[in-house]
Amino acid sequence: MGAAARRVAKSLVYQQRPAAAVEFATTAARRLTDGLTDRGALGLSTLGMLYLSAALAESSQERTPGRVAAAGGYVAEAGDVAARQGADLDEDYTQFGPTNVTLHRMDVLLRFEDGWSALEAAEDARPEALAGMTREAAGRAPGRRRARLAADPTQGRRRSSPAPDRRAGARGGARTPGDGEPRQGRGPRDPGPRTGLAQACRALWTAGMTQVLYLIACAAGPTQHIDDGVRAAQDDGWDVCLILTPSAATWWEPRMEELVELTGHPVRSRYKQPWEKDALPKADAMLVAPMSCTTLNKWGAGISDTVAVGIPSEAVHMGVPVIAMPYFNQAQGAQPAVTRSIAALREQGILFLDGPDGYQSHPPKRGNPQAFPWGKALAGARRQTGDRCPRT
Ligand SMILES: Cc1cc2nc3c(=O)[nH]c(=O)nc-3n(C[C@H](O)[C@H](O)[C@H](O)COP(=O)(O)O)c2cc1C
Repeated sequence: MGAAARRVAKSLVYQQRPAAAVEFATTAARRLTDGLTDRGALGLSTLGMLYLSAALAESSQERTPGRVAAAGGYVAEAGDVAARQGADLDEDYTQFGPTNVTLHRMDVLLRFEDGWSALEAAEDARPEALAGMTREAAGRAPGRRRARLAADPTQGRRRSSPAPDRRAGARGGARTPGDGEPRQGRGPRDPGPRTGLAQACRALWTAGMTQVLYLIACAAGPTQHIDDGVRAAQDDGWDVCLILTPSAATWWEPRMEELVELTGHPVRSRYKQPWEKDALPKADAMLVAPMSCTTLNKWGAGISDTVAVGIPSEAVHMGVPVIAMPYFNQAQGAQPAVTRSIAALREQGILFLDGPDGYQSHPPKRGNPQAFPWGKALAGARRQTGDRCPRT
């Protein structure tokens, strides 16, 4: 019951209803307190996580003094529950306990952009507890990538795919040219010195508090450099699963293993067979980028003959935030079907990023696929998920 209440609260946040999520989580926590307390550690961890869900929902809204105080209060309630529980446990895969409460306190403070207090909060976390939590989470986390990161957070970048000859030198220093969004803070794979905050952030990353992003790419120019998009999303704190259209998959066929290695997940491009299990963890959000003119028009017409359209076209009607950013030229965009398809997508709640907030179509033969503005796409993903994704 309590665990179901947590899931409802989470889904309310995804539906852009954080205030309702706070109300729901706190009401459930208060009503269920006695019953959950009687159930020992399992009940206490559920109760504590309900308060932490309320804190996260509260802090996914614009900062006001009232919200800062309320979110702090929910974290404090969770802290009391953790104190009653007494130790860091992993009941019902919650990893609830004093250390997890400290991580949430930091997360809430960072969301309210109070880095100094987050740093102070990090001092409460015992390094051994954080390290233990990281190992623990890595052991049970889906995907090889988390495990690799837990072993060595610098590994992702070192192992990332070498640029093929045709691209050698073209990547240069700027990783996402034209995205106009400077990175904030240190990434989880940054080999810099580990302060308490950095270590705690790393634990946030590996403790399963990282969210899963399905990055869905079509056979449009920037997909030649889709590894750049994957890395940009990973740097933004996402656990990235890559899905390609069948046409896009042919572009990467000789180097597909590199993408598997980079993401730590299988790369999907075809519908699974009826007897096959889902290969990917559940998505917290989906970003369809770069989106081709063909995929846009198929989706707008309700045709989902590729898994790349099928997954997000259903997901958006199941409460998952879906963002799409196109890449095609002005001549392709002049087709009347394009305007209709964009309207059809927006009508369904998809955040379609064109114009100044997204990709502005280029004149024919004047595209620059390497300058695809991944920063804008990821900013859209953050907006749609209420800034839930921790940028470490
Ligand atoms: C080298 C190459 C580059 C292409 N670039 C684009 C592009 O940038 N945008 C686009 O909409 N279509 C582009 N196309 C056409 C699409 O690949 C084609 O419409 C394909 O059917 C799209 O299928 P998909 O959306 O399932 O990936 C390109 C095709 C080729 C061969």
